[in-house]
Amino acid sequence: MALTAKRYTITAALPYTNGPIHIGHLAGVYIPADIYSRYLRAQKKDVAFICGSDEHGVAISIRAKKEGVSPKEIIDKYDQMIRTSFDQLGISFDNYSRTSSDIHHKTASEIFTKMNDTGKFIEEVTEQLFDPEANQYLADRFVTGTCPKCQYHEAYGDQCEQCGSPLNATELINPKSILSGATPVLKKTKHWFLPLNHYQEFMKEWVIEGHKDDWKPNVYGQVKSWIDDGLRPRAVTRDLDWGIPVPVEGADGKVMYVWFDAPIGYISSTKEWAAKKNKDWKPYWKDKETSLVHFIGKDNIVFHCIIFPCILKASGEYILPENVPANEFLNLEGNKISTSKNWAVWLHEYLTEFPGQEDVLRYVLTSNAPETKDNDFTWKDFQARNNNELVAIFGNFINRVSVLTQKYYDGIVPAQKDLTHEDLKTLNKMRAFPGVIGGSIERYRFREASQELMNLARLGNKYLADQEPWKLIKIDPERVKTILNVSLQISATLATVTEPFLPLSAKKLRGILNISNPINWNAIETSKDILPAGHIIGSQKLLFAKIDDSIIQAQLEKLEATKKNNSEANYELPPVKENINFEDFSTMDLRTGTIVEAEKIKKTKKLLNLKVDLGFEIRTIVSGIAESYSTEEIIGKKVTVLVNLAPRIIKGVESQGMLLMTENKEGKLIIVGPEDSNMDNGFEIN
Ligand code: MF3
Ligand code: ZN
Repeated sequence: MALTAKRYTITAALPYTNGPIHIGHLAGVYIPADIYSRYLRAQKKDVAFICGSDEHGVAISIRAKKEGVSPKEIIDKYDQMIRTSFDQLGISFDNYSRTSSDIHHKTASEIFTKMNDTGKFIEEVTEQLFDPEANQYLADRFVTGTCPKCQYHEAYGDQCEQCGSPLNATELINPKSILSGATPVLKKTKHWFLPLNHYQEFMKEWVIEGHKDDWKPNVYGQVKSWIDDGLRPRAVTRDLDWGIPVPVEGADGKVMYVWFDAPIGYISSTKEWAAKKNKDWKPYWKDKETSLVHFIGKDNIVFHCIIFPCILKASGEYILPENVPANEFLNLEGNKISTSKNWAVWLHEYLTEFPGQEDVLRYVLTSNAPETKDNDFTWKDFQARNNNELVAIFGNFINRVSVLTQKYYDGIVPAQKDLTHEDLKTLNKMRAFPGVIGGSIERYRFREASQELMNLARLGNKYLADQEPWKLIKIDPERVKTILNVSLQISATLATVTEPFLPLSAKKLRGILNISNPINWNAIETSKDILPAGHIIGSQKLLFAKIDDSIIQAQLEKLEATKKNNSEANYELPPVKENINFEDFSTMDLRTGTIVEAEKIKKTKKLLNLKVDLGFEIRTIVSGIAESYSTEEIIGKKVTVLVNLAPRIIKGVESQGMLLMTENKEGKLIIVGPEDSNMDNGFEIN
């Protein structure tokens, strides 16, 4: 594949401004999009890397209602936070806009109006789900129920997360409102629909036939199955009070569906950028020689591969995406990342907790990106990738080269003399890397590309280790000049190919090598001297720093605390059982007692063999509390015992009664004991 387009419009999914950015967003969308855009710029391509905040939608208005503030307060807060954190991570958007901006409202309204005027919508009065308790129409996302396709119980009204089918909320079996839990009722309302069924043939030709070989199998497969299933009309208006007003007659109080306006945000953001740069925005969206690429997560596939392309097609003048390299999901320490459960590594927190280590996160998320399947982020892996790869391989190589060059040659690049077979082999391998890494990037294989990057550093490390200049300096100082020259060429190549992945480290490395402008990516393959003899390098600095166990431990503890919080917050008291009569109750003989002996029952996790002094006798009772109490701490405890429970053999021991226990929020069993610790054993409880 070659980069043949005249210009590139690269978009990254507009994040919702109802929460901060986390590692799942970064690994799935923003880091790959940034690597791709930076690479294109290194290839001297004309690039517009476009993003912005997605600020409409019912999630934001609900959140505002809950917190008793205006939606504007919510979006302003998160828009600011998201912008700043992207910037600090070095995400190099050419423009980051907002869908609450005037230019976006105007652009989306124009497109809606034009589509309406040219008959691209159908209007229909339908029955929509209405929450009688919350007194509002329910967006599809706010209805759950059973999926009619796969019977999954927690399908959302717009999509089933189990089987991936796009749904309409009215198709759900046993629907429930997320807002109030009420069963929604149907109420008549008029809406504008995009008749996707009219685009069935177009979609077939464009995707099924046209992109069979160049789209990722996960993306192609999903789109194909929707098309095969038959496309259906989709409402593009909503009865809500937050969004862009529908600009046509008879639509009072209605707003555009957020997924109608949001992708148009890419166009508005491009317009905003072009205006600032005194450029024409149109070629970036209308010229056939422009390549449009959407970076998204897998939950956005239907919107970017079907709905938005149909909008673009219907509007008549726009180009369609060349590719939509959607990623799968990233999990965190084995569990699904969740904003509402606070189960995430938040970018803004990372940036304050790991200052100067922005690139470490970029590297780890790239080398473990969920490109073909869901992946897991763990702090241990984060530490290992930093300490064993960035520090031990990449950083170590650069450090040795810069230290030796300073020490032996006062920082002046020595000249090459006769090149040995090893030197030539190493230089040839080195010259192949920019092409290999670029090829992986062009095929959206960023993981692979990052591994090749590390392989180039490995090549340098191995070369130094084999040549041992620190030993040769005493016997054959002339030879050392060549060895360091070759090593410096590898360092300079690293500075170039590292830039898209680790921009801050690449800059630092250029400082160490004293290169003001990045060396041309494509020139390396043929150039003899990337860093010419006589060039004076900069001062020595460490590129990466080791991360200690204690830092990782602190992060793991933070996650533990979140888990604990969640289990407490979700704790629900069990419902009260059915009534029993007094006679049933009075058949139970409950007595006070004291535990006098305790021993773990072998080969079990939970069972203790207890001896309980009941005053009139000592009984053996087997109890499943070993995970809550140690044998030492339980001896001497006052307990309440059901003494007339029929004996039972448990793991070979006859248990002659039962202790009364309750469970606290963390799942620990607690003894329900006689309150007064002076209470003698054997007393009846009634
Ligand atoms: N805000 C959406 C999400 O986070 C993505 C919107 S992408 C756009 O899932 F195309 F609509 F802009
Ligand atoms: Zn389903």
